[in-house]
Amino acid sequence: MNGTKSRITSLRRELERHNYNYHVLSAPTIADCEFDYMMRELQQLEEAHPEYFDPYSPTQRVGSDLSKDFEQVSHKYPMLSLGNTYSEAEVREFYGRVARSLNESFDIVAELKYDGASISLTYKNGKLVQAVTRGDGSRGDNVTANVRTIRSVPLSLIGDDYPDEFEIRGEILLPWSEFERINKEREEQGESLFANPRNVASGTLKHQNPSVVAARKLDAYFYYLLGEDLPTDGHYENMEAARSWGFKIPPVIRKCSSLEDISEYLSYWEKEREHLPVATDGIVLKVNSIKQQLNLGYTAKSPRWAVAYKFQAERIATRLNSISFQVGRTGAITPVANLEPALLSGTTVKRASLHNEDIIIGLDLHIGDNVYVEKGGEIIPKIVGVDTESRTTEVGEKVSFIKNCPECGAELIQPEGEAAHYCPNAWGCPPQIKGAIEHFVTRRAMDIRIGPESIEDMYNAGLIKNVADLYTLGLTDLVKLERWAGKSAQNLLDSLSESKSVPFERFLYGLGIRYVGETVAKRLSRAFPHIDKLKQATAEDLTAVDEIGERIAQSVTAYFADERNIALIERLATFGLKMYMEDDGSSNRTNKLSGLNIVISGAFAKHSRDEYKQLIELHGGKNSGSVSGKTDYLLVGENMGQAKLEKASKLGIKILNEDEFLNLLEQ
Ligand code: IVH
Repeated sequence: MNGTKSRITSLRRELERHNYNYHVLSAPTIADCEFDYMMRELQQLEEAHPEYFDPYSPTQRVGSDLSKDFEQVSHKYPMLSLGNTYSEAEVREFYGRVARSLNESFDIVAELKYDGASISLTYKNGKLVQAVTRGDGSRGDNVTANVRTIRSVPLSLIGDDYPDEFEIRGEILLPWSEFERINKEREEQGESLFANPRNVASGTLKHQNPSVVAARKLDAYFYYLLGEDLPTDGHYENMEAARSWGFKIPPVIRKCSSLEDISEYLSYWEKEREHLPVATDGIVLKVNSIKQQLNLGYTAKSPRWAVAYKFQAERIATRLNSISFQVGRTGAITPVANLEPALLSGTTVKRASLHNEDIIIGLDLHIGDNVYVEKGGEIIPKIVGVDTESRTTEVGEKVSFIKNCPECGAELIQPEGEAAHYCPNAWGCPPQIKGAIEHFVTRRAMDIRIGPESIEDMYNAGLIKNVADLYTLGLTDLVKLERWAGKSAQNLLDSLSESKSVPFERFLYGLGIRYVGETVAKRLSRAFPHIDKLKQATAEDLTAVDEIGERIAQSVTAYFADERNIALIERLATFGLKMYMEDDGSSNRTNKLSGLNIVISGAFAKHSRDEYKQLIELHGGKNSGSVSGKTDYLLVGENMGQAKLEKASKLGIKILNEDEFLNLLEQ
């Protein structure tokens, strides 16, 4: 019993320390899931021991980090949207309406409309107390923990002339440079690319792990202050005050006293916005005086005192010259439109992606068509329509999807339920062969120092046809090739021999099995610590591993069912590559609990709960939090939850005490 009490005390102390590191210092020293795990253990212990209740326990905090879903919060002032205008004529109408309603002089503040995720921050006595997303406008998600990681959001304000309590609204943004960096990294890892920075910003804001949020280098710009005692009656002046308190208020906001001023601002930013570090999609015009804003009031959805002028989605019309089909590393076919080169937002566009067959059919494309091309928030231009009226009788043939691979001639396949077509000839299709080698050598896989051009050269010279051939390269082969002076050739050979000690999980990732990314490779290598074990694993064995589903299991079994893959692996083994897990102190790893679902409950004497959890995983089992029809064993300790015990006996689940469990592992 004393053991339980001291465990509770030490968990409370630890959790408080991590709370402080995380919330106050913004420097968490443990992963979110570890924190959650400790919190859950504490909650269970407290549930089982109400006599140790303490209102100051970290489990008693409101809005504890434990919740996987964000807490929903009502907005004190609703977050409205803005009416849109698309032309200067509409802007003039807005201006006229305001002038008629007010019937006195007024100023308009012009500012950029930032394209990210909107956020509302509350400050009390100069401290950030809450950050809430827009949600449905009246209720949003409490994302304070995540927003705290954004460096441009002040946690404490500068000076002392801010109101005791106020809200400030703004936009969370992912700068273009960061967006490009993340996408480049994803491309290297064979992951799908993000379409635009807005999606990444709002996705990141709702990420469950604040350290991921912190790593993404989000930025925040602010544009609206709300509260009972704001410094002045002017929106522009209030923004200047907010800037002095430490907020990032874009310097490009301008007070306009005439339509001419506004017009000048619009035409200046229409072009200049291309040089901004973040995405914008228009200009916002606001009546400056707050008194006048109140006079003008609101419609059901938006204020009458403000309007958005949306930038023209940059669009051009150009001729569709031809369609080519590209074959990716995994055999996926991407149709690409070859266009008559045309200028679009500062760059010459020659190509546009068409994604898949459904899109081609939807557009009813013909060669020679005049097509509309847009480059919205997306980086790759896309065809958004066809000018069918300008279609002449000379228009070329209707575009249809190819039936055979343009590179190797193999008949394409379209897996059920997928829009994409694939070339199934992984072993004979040049871009797939070269792609597989490129993937194998990447830094996160085997880390072999050779670039795509050299792979291409060596492939063309007949030196390499698969990844195993890399290990047969010698100095004499290399020096015959252009680009391979003595030193870089030796460098390549060194990296090839270093790659022989790359851990098993990275080798497994390097094989490029479809759907086996880094995380899956890690999981598989733990559950099947030797390539032979993985080779023999059935789909059922595979799906018994945490987070491995049908789709991955099928891909893995199909890979090992192919004799050519087996031969390749055997050949790689002769070069001495690591095909098993290194002894990392867990050499007693077994498959004794493989496929078994085990729930732990109560407190134990011989090992901690954490250690039991690790033991289960070490022996290939899965630890789950709650008893269900899928549970195989319930491992029970002292003072276990009565409800769990009853449920387990009802379901006929086998109950083990710690000795019985340890015996099971001994066998
Ligand atoms: S003012 C009541 N100013 O645009 C008016 N909004 O439809 C409050 N936005 O999602 C909004 N830049 O997040 C305002 N300079 C700016 C803005 C801006 C971007 C976003 C805002 C909202 C949408 C308005």
